[in-house]
Amino acid sequence: MNDGDLTAPGRPELSTGPGGSPERDSPQIGRSYPQAGDFAGDVGEERGDATAGRVSRETSLSPVPASASKFSDRNPVSRETSNHLVDVLLSTPPVPHPSDTGSSSPVTSPQEPSATTGSNVSRGTGFRTAAQIAEQDTTAYDNSTPLARAAEHVVMARQGALGRQQPARPDHTRVMVVANQKGGVGKTTSTVNLAAAMAQLGQRVLVIDLDPQGNASTALNIDHHRGVPSTYDLLVDGAALADITAPCPELPNLVVCPATIDLAGAEIELVSVVARENRLHKAIQAHPLVGDSTIGDERFDYVFIDCPPSLGLLTLNALVAGAEMMIPIQAEYYALEGLGQLLETVAMVKAHLNPRLDVTTILITMYDARTRLAAGVAEEVREHFGSTVLKTMVPRSVRVSEAPSYGQTVMTYDPGSPGALSYLEAAREIAVKGAPAA
Ligand SMILES: Nc1ncnc2c1ncn2[C@@H]1O[C@H](COP(=O)(O)OP(=O)(O)O)[C@@H](O)[C@H]1O
Ligand SMILES: [Mg+2]
Repeated sequence: MNDGDLTAPGRPELSTGPGGSPERDSPQIGRSYPQAGDFAGDVGEERGDATAGRVSRETSLSPVPASASKFSDRNPVSRETSNHLVDVLLSTPPVPHPSDTGSSSPVTSPQEPSATTGSNVSRGTGFRTAAQIAEQDTTAYDNSTPLARAAEHVVMARQGALGRQQPARPDHTRVMVVANQKGGVGKTTSTVNLAAAMAQLGQRVLVIDLDPQGNASTALNIDHHRGVPSTYDLLVDGAALADITAPCPELPNLVVCPATIDLAGAEIELVSVVARENRLHKAIQAHPLVGDSTIGDERFDYVFIDCPPSLGLLTLNALVAGAEMMIPIQAEYYALEGLGQLLETVAMVKAHLNPRLDVTTILITMYDARTRLAAGVAEEVREHFGSTVLKTMVPRSVRVSEAPSYGQTVMTYDPGSPGALSYLEAAREIAVKGAPAA
């Protein structure tokens, strides 16, 4: 990990807390988070309450004593920080939820004052919500008339981000594994949208769907019924990756290796295969368009691997194949539970199977700016993982979840929406940050 040495002295360790039951391998998290209902839309409710840090630090990933707790009322430093968090929250009026208003895009809402644009950033928290990104980008939307808006939409859908400044292509193919054994945290959504955003930013991208459910294939509009050449053939039969990939109809720079339901059996079938955890790595490295710049313009810049919600042989194959790992974390109550186990697995893979592997990126997804719970989780994650966490957070947005039902990513379905703008910004962050030094 870049700067996230979790075992460094003075840094709380990600481990099962002393109170943890022996069966549960997950860290002591979320114990004293208030009920979700405590938060819903109540940002303004406790104006001036300095102890509003009810998003307690006792919810830590680790057994940090309460006295050292960042949000503890007994600790003057924590009070300060807590006040700071409250300040930030109070200075940011609730962002209207798309599902509340029925509006396709909160960006267009007049309720978002321009003062919010820089407030979080200038106050030193340094992260932006999608609404702020959208607002900064005044060229993103012209909703002065419905016709202008429709025209803008069409242009953005056709060109995506192509008209914008494009980040440099990396000097070798970056293989990014998107994994988290927890289901529903936004792995697939992040994989397809970051891949689409990268493609719109002029990068050449390959997406490998490694989840038997084939959700990434669906979102990218790739046929994945039984019988279609898929990741199963790659892993079990040793088929060549180049023979399996299909171009994404919506995005010219994007190709996909689809997953069919057959992949569900691969986990068992692979058990008896020699070097079973190496299959995906070999397949990727054997692709003629994977490698350094000597390959030419056609070379893939990014390979994104969408993992299933488990830590079985499929995910293991991905962890062996990639040099960079991205963990999407949902800004939710149970979000951090299980992270300890995930990081232990990564450490084991790094020690025994793939020394190149690093957790390079953490993306906070489904962030609901109206709740202090989400802010508390984000704060917690940033505290532990530092600059590994992308500044951009992806907001919870109806448009993001609707897109797959149209066989699209939100990047083409509603390119001016906060979800699309966030993924675009997140992709840009990943591209600009670059690969970790070898
Ligand atoms: N930013 C978001 N806003 C709203 N819904 C989202 C967002 N990100 C993901 N979702 C929805 O959450 C669900 C789980 O996301 P998914 O990407 O499939 O998670 P995973 O791949 O980790 O299981 C899906 O229904 C998806 O549409
Ligand atoms: Mg998924």
